[in-house]
Amino acid sequence: MLAAVRTAAASKSAFASMRSFSGSASIRPARWASPVISGLSGGLSGVRSSVHTPRRLFSTVKTAEVILVGCGAPDKGMGWYHAVQMLDGKVPSSNLTSIIEPYFLGAGASSDAGVDFAAWQGEVEADHEVKFLKSLSDLPVVDPKTSPRVALISGRTADNPALLTSSIAAGCNTIYLEKPGAPTVAELQSMKQEAAANNVTVLMGYNKNVCKYVSKVRDFASKNEGLVTFVSNNAYENTKESLGECFERNSEGMLKNMAIHELALLVSFYDVTVENIASVVADKEFSSVQTLAGPSGEERTDFDKIKFTITTKSGKQVSVAADRCGGSDSYATVVNDGKEIFKYSMPDEEDEIMVAEIQGRFPNAMPYFFPQDPDYITVKERVSSFCATGKEAEGVATIDIGVETLRVAEFLTPELQKQLA
Ligand SMILES: NC(=O)c1ccc[n+]([C@@H]2O[C@H](COP(=O)([O-])OP(=O)(O)OC[C@H]3O[C@@H](n4cnc5c(N)ncnc54)[C@H](O)[C@@H]3O)[C@@H](O)[C@H]2O)c1
Repeated sequence: MLAAVRTAAASKSAFASMRSFSGSASIRPARWASPVISGLSGGLSGVRSSVHTPRRLFSTVKTAEVILVGCGAPDKGMGWYHAVQMLDGKVPSSNLTSIIEPYFLGAGASSDAGVDFAAWQGEVEADHEVKFLKSLSDLPVVDPKTSPRVALISGRTADNPALLTSSIAAGCNTIYLEKPGAPTVAELQSMKQEAAANNVTVLMGYNKNVCKYVSKVRDFASKNEGLVTFVSNNAYENTKESLGECFERNSEGMLKNMAIHELALLVSFYDVTVENIASVVADKEFSSVQTLAGPSGEERTDFDKIKFTITTKSGKQVSVAADRCGGSDSYATVVNDGKEIFKYSMPDEEDEIMVAEIQGRFPNAMPYFFPQDPDYITVKERVSSFCATGKEAEGVATIDIGVETLRVAEFLTPELQKQLA
């Protein structure tokens, strides 16, 4: 494992033991205040106002400045969860200095979620040296040659191409781009070119590339014969209303939205590219396509369940299954001669304790944050460490992987719909 990640684990266990040592609820002002800082402020009275970034106390890790672009609402936004992890000091190489939130600090400020956001902002500002800004243009520009700066872009997918342009203009030399990065291959390709022309590295938030169940299954499959299937489930209610709302909100479709993580695994680890696909076969018994009206009344056609097997020209075979109403877990299996010989799930038994703890702290947060918590940390740590030191972000998907993943999604969607018609 990377040294940087070992440091993260060490700081995490230091954090865990400090929590159990300090204990007092009265010194923990809010659920999103850093527990490490709260522990310190209880133990060392008067230190709190000058202590903002726990990692500086525990390690001498070189840090990169991180600008979070597109935070989203507390409990709901992916960006919000990234912020919480950095504020907790769980990402030693990152120094979160600014949170850019165009909507909740602008047109959406008076919405219910905007009011929630303002309350969270107040709590964070009281405890951390973090600035909240409406636009990247409000940020002081730095020289990327002397000041390593990451933009963690987690806006709506359709807004992310413009946010990348503004992040480059603000002097960010490394971009952590949430998946899928852009609505179309053409847009992501042009973002890739823009970044390259400005000497900016773009790494993608495909956290399943670094997660435990994937590495366990890949490890088993490297030593045993069998077909690997990556399975991803969501917990939507199986009704026309619930799925219609899901199809409308995730209008890029099942493959570019939910199953995109699995496609990134295929591109990263199974040589899958559009040109290298020899065949794709839909599992007609498992799969289902529906045309449903969303809340706006507009109808959309999408898969509510899809399973398929790809065989590559280089002789690899791998399957993916995704089900909008299958539950809230992800796992992978290895099947040989019709018999399942290996299965590993996320979360595993060890992680269930961690999931319960985080859920207790954030009972209303999106449930998918909890089992993926360690993987979000790992990707942020590797990207920040790359920006601060130049050390390769091992296992993290590059924008080339991101482009090919979207290409595969655009290729497979009509092909699978045709097979299921
Ligand atoms: N890696 C993962 O596991 C994972 C999980 C979820 C989302 N994501 C990705 O993260 C990114 C952000 O997703 P999200 O679910 O946090 O999105 P979100 O819509 O909740 O928030 C993103 C941004 O959208 C803006 N916004 C929110 N409501 C708006 C409104 N009504 N009108 C206009 N703008 C509004 C806000 O500025 C916010 O910062 C996407 O690229 C998504 O694909 C990744």
